[in-house]
Amino acid sequence: MLTETAIAANAAETDFPLDNFHVTDADLPTFRDMPFEDIEELDLDHPGASDPEYRTRRGYIASLAKKFRETGVITDVVYNDEEQAIWRHVATRLEELHQRHASPFYLRAKRDLGISTERIPQLTDMSRRLKELTNFRLAPIEGLVDTRAFLSWLSWRTMLSTQYIRHHSRPEYTPEPDIVHEAIGHIPMFTNPNFADFSQFIGHGARIATDKQIEELGRLYWFTVEFGLVEHEGDIKAYGAGLLSSYGELVHAFSDKVERRPFVLEEVINHEYTYSDMQPVLYVIPSYAELKEVTRGYISTFGS
Ligand SMILES: [Fe+2]
Repeated sequence: MLTETAIAANAAETDFPLDNFHVTDADLPTFRDMPFEDIEELDLDHPGASDPEYRTRRGYIASLAKKFRETGVITDVVYNDEEQAIWRHVATRLEELHQRHASPFYLRAKRDLGISTERIPQLTDMSRRLKELTNFRLAPIEGLVDTRAFLSWLSWRTMLSTQYIRHHSRPEYTPEPDIVHEAIGHIPMFTNPNFADFSQFIGHGARIATDKQIEELGRLYWFTVEFGLVEHEGDIKAYGAGLLSSYGELVHAFSDKVERRPFVLEEVINHEYTYSDMQPVLYVIPSYAELKEVTRGYISTFGS
């Protein structure tokens, strides 16, 4: 997925202090040249692949993200009734399960950000609030970008986020990130200062990582940001976006089909996984502060 050009461009960008969490908009690199996959090419297994109306709508919402790359201004989406209905259905089902399994921090954060089961939240509102709380921000993106490019943006305390929503025929499923995955899964956790700093460390690492290290970072991201579990008062709770945004994944994570192991960095970064399968092993961090410090130590060895 990574190109030689991307590596060469990133190799020069090693001059950043690990403790500089103060990123301003002026520090951001230009979004204009961001590489991305051809968004017209929906995989055949995408439930909306043979629905021309869905494809046109997805393409339109994606074009708003493209506009952002030219103007730097987020255009919010006027979601239609069908899209709002998909959100209400999925968000309501998940909310029930979150009360049982989500980390208490996440539950509070969702409320703080005004993410409700009633309507699809807008990136402008969430980005403004994130900036106030942890100086993180959101940038709309119209499709998948490669691992290094995606993770590198975290270095500038920026999360790339899609705005379109999954196809109505399978509301519980999406083969690609969508607004449900971003807003219910990812965005609330960025209001946690330790989680935000940890994410930024992953971004710093991605900018200078070797190809082998970028694979390791991808696994660290997978088993934390996407599928992470955290200890809470003798219990285990979910904070990973892939769990919190999927009813099936969240039920599975707390079933006896999953081995929940203590988080050991060395093990996590070497743990190969299959993207499309339910995960048989998940890792439990003791706290977000611990995750941040372990990651700081790990990426401080990069580039030396
Ligand atoms: Fe994700």
